[in-house]
Amino acid sequence: MNSKILVTGGTGYIGSHTVVELQTAGYEVIVVDDLSNSNIDVLDNIEQISGKKPAFEQFSLADAAKTDDFFNRHRDIAAIIHFAASKAVGESVQLPLHYYRNNLVSLLNILDCQVKYGISNIVFSSSCTVYGQPDKLPVTETTPRKDAESPYGNTKRVNEDILQDAVRAYPQLKGIALRYFNPIGAHPSALIGELPLGIPQNLVPFITQTAAGLRSELLVFGDDYDTPDGSAIRDYINVVDLAKAHLVAIERLLQNQNKTGYEVFNLGTGNGYSVLEIVKGFEKVTGLKLNYRIVERRAGDIEKIWADTTFANQELGWKAEKGLEETLLSAWNWEKRVRGIR
Ligand code: UD1
Repeated sequence: MNSKILVTGGTGYIGSHTVVELQTAGYEVIVVDDLSNSNIDVLDNIEQISGKKPAFEQFSLADAAKTDDFFNRHRDIAAIIHFAASKAVGESVQLPLHYYRNNLVSLLNILDCQVKYGISNIVFSSSCTVYGQPDKLPVTETTPRKDAESPYGNTKRVNEDILQDAVRAYPQLKGIALRYFNPIGAHPSALIGELPLGIPQNLVPFITQTAAGLRSELLVFGDDYDTPDGSAIRDYINVVDLAKAHLVAIERLLQNQNKTGYEVFNLGTGNGYSVLEIVKGFEKVTGLKLNYRIVERRAGDIEKIWADTTFANQELGWKAEKGLEETLLSAWNWEKRVRGIR
């Protein structure tokens, strides 16, 4: 069986963890990344963990000619996991055209090449952002999607539609969209993790950078939500658990178990935690005191969301295994290694 997997965005946060899982399971991986938000050194760290450095090419999949040339040279790719995308919610409001061009055109270019070169299988990185603030919790895959709150969120929604329509039109195509809840943490080796450029927008990197002394305080956005402690609730999932779900999705596609052609899965833990619970949990596992202050709500934030993971449990046989404390500790160990803290 041909087992060469293309991972776009494979030097990024979720991508690098997924490359490790694929290689550990025996797959041959080729990474394409434009390195706009990641570092080439990640490949060496992937090698340290999994014993193998993946093949690598640097270009943007939004470039149609380069993408075509790549697939023309790699006709033996069995499946694609498409992570490569711009992902900062706030930035997408400032630079909507960049977000639409980069995120939509790259998927279109890939799908064009799949049809042209006969590559059937693709796994697409989607997000729970497509649900907006759901009317009912937890959310299942059939919970109606809502209008996106940002251009970034809209690119996820539109890309899901593009994939679904392409699968309908070309029976040889098979696609799985994975809707991630909030990925956090790092590989237990602390060799790979999330390294945001500039000031982190996401909660856990902001917490670990504050604890490391890079930021003076964490701002907790809102304590007047309709939740037990007033802060907003999310479903935080360990990035290694998330990466493992990609391996299962790839195997489902390669073994032709995806009967409808296009499928969607929620990837979360099924548990919701508030911002303040995350802060307290971090303080507990690290023994550190975090400097934080409660401020106004952040524009565009929803109040609460967590996943119903029944479909992924049943169909993929996948379930998040790591607990919150272990995950927060892995995030801290990663931050410590990156900053040289003992
Ligand atoms: C957002 C996107 C999600 C995207 C993810 C990655 C939405 C609804 N969600 O998730 O699709 O994949 O970013 O970029 O668009 N918080 C603080 N202080 C901080 C940072 C965050 O209190 O300094 C709070 C937020 O208000 C929120 C929670 O922590 O309640 C999680 O925030 P964040 O990590 O940014 O993720 P989301 O906004 O849930």
